[in-house]
Amino acid sequence: MRALRKTAPAPGLELCEIPEPEPGFGEVKIRVMRAGLCGTDIHLFKWDGGAPGSLTPPQTLGHEFYGEISAIGPGVAEGRGRDELHVGQRVSVEGHIVCGRCRNCRAGRRHMCIRTIGIGVNRDGGFADYVVVPAGNVWVQPEAIDPDLGALFDPFGNAVHSCQQVEMTGQDVLVTGAGPIGVMCAALARHAGARHVVVTDMMPSRLELARAAGADVAVDITQQTLPEVMEALEIREGFDAGLEMSGAPGGLTSLIEHCTHGATIALLGLPKGAFPINWNQVITRMLTIKGVYGREMFDTWYLATYMLETSEQLRNSVRSIITHRFAPEEWEQAFAAAAEGTAGKVIIDWER
Ligand SMILES: NC(=O)c1ccc[n+]([C@@H]2O[C@H](COP(=O)([O-])OP(=O)(O)OC[C@H]3O[C@@H](n4cnc5c(N)ncnc54)[C@H](O)[C@@H]3O)[C@@H](O)[C@H]2O)c1
Ligand SMILES: [Zn+2]
Ligand SMILES: [Zn+2]
Repeated sequence: MRALRKTAPAPGLELCEIPEPEPGFGEVKIRVMRAGLCGTDIHLFKWDGGAPGSLTPPQTLGHEFYGEISAIGPGVAEGRGRDELHVGQRVSVEGHIVCGRCRNCRAGRRHMCIRTIGIGVNRDGGFADYVVVPAGNVWVQPEAIDPDLGALFDPFGNAVHSCQQVEMTGQDVLVTGAGPIGVMCAALARHAGARHVVVTDMMPSRLELARAAGADVAVDITQQTLPEVMEALEIREGFDAGLEMSGAPGGLTSLIEHCTHGATIALLGLPKGAFPINWNQVITRMLTIKGVYGREMFDTWYLATYMLETSEQLRNSVRSIITHRFAPEEWEQAFAAAAEGTAGKVIIDWER
């Protein structure tokens, strides 16, 4: 089978021909149909030390994917009943594998596991014709979720998990950063009935994606200030909820500056390093700042599926972030498009 692998601890990747993996105890084998590229893959490709965890070559990349179960390993409840798995089921996969033994795992807070490892980061991932994953990481998708949407569930789950932290209905929501996840947050805020959804960035192509997905105003911060936008929208006391989706220090500082007293700010964007914050403002404005990592296992997956299943508009908004598609053999073009930072989501179609 084809597999896009890191073969040496150095920049670059290789599309290799390797034997198909077979599912071990408690695992299932999946025929990959679509896979998405994200920032982590770019860091691993460039080998610039920016990706979390340590990848030990040779290893296949890819943690955002959708496919069909093609084999069930020993020890997996197999059948057609609820909570059973069978060959032919269409699935997305939770990319974080948790230890099951730490206090958070045992308390049911699996997304807070202290020993999380990543599919496609710490073990072979979904940039391949087939991948083997723990059965517990499989999320069976209903028919309404097509292969493209199914491949977006990892970043869409990040967006849903972030939105779970703030109240949106009737609120003025500010999203900093119009990357794929920021744009999905804008779509979710619209879906949840926000009063106004404002998204900031400085990349015109990405601001356009945010508008198409449901932002009332997508602000180019090099052209317009937030107070100007707030005045036009009659947001008099500041935004009620903030979502930091850029990883840039300027994203958080502008949220602290423009949110109202008592607002909640969820931080998903990963900064490159430490940076100064005006703590005085955080304290006197009584802001709640909440770090968000991954997806809640599996509450976020239920919310994500249920919202998409029942809203064609949300499905279209989320799908609209896909701007590029490539065959596995075109992987270099795919990585170049994703690394440029102007694209929406880049998809590799493993059925080509
Ligand atoms: N916490 C987690 O579990 C988790 C998971 C996935 C991604 N992430 C992080 O979430 C962030 C969003 O992911 P993505 O794939 O959408 O990212 P991305 O890097 O593609 O998008 C970030 C966007 O922010 C914009 N930006 C930069 N500086 C800005 C500023 N000062 N104000 C407003 N916008 C600014 C950039 O132009 C870019 O369009 C990234 O930082 C990523 O590393 C975190
Ligand atoms: Zn990712
Ligand atoms: Zn654990």
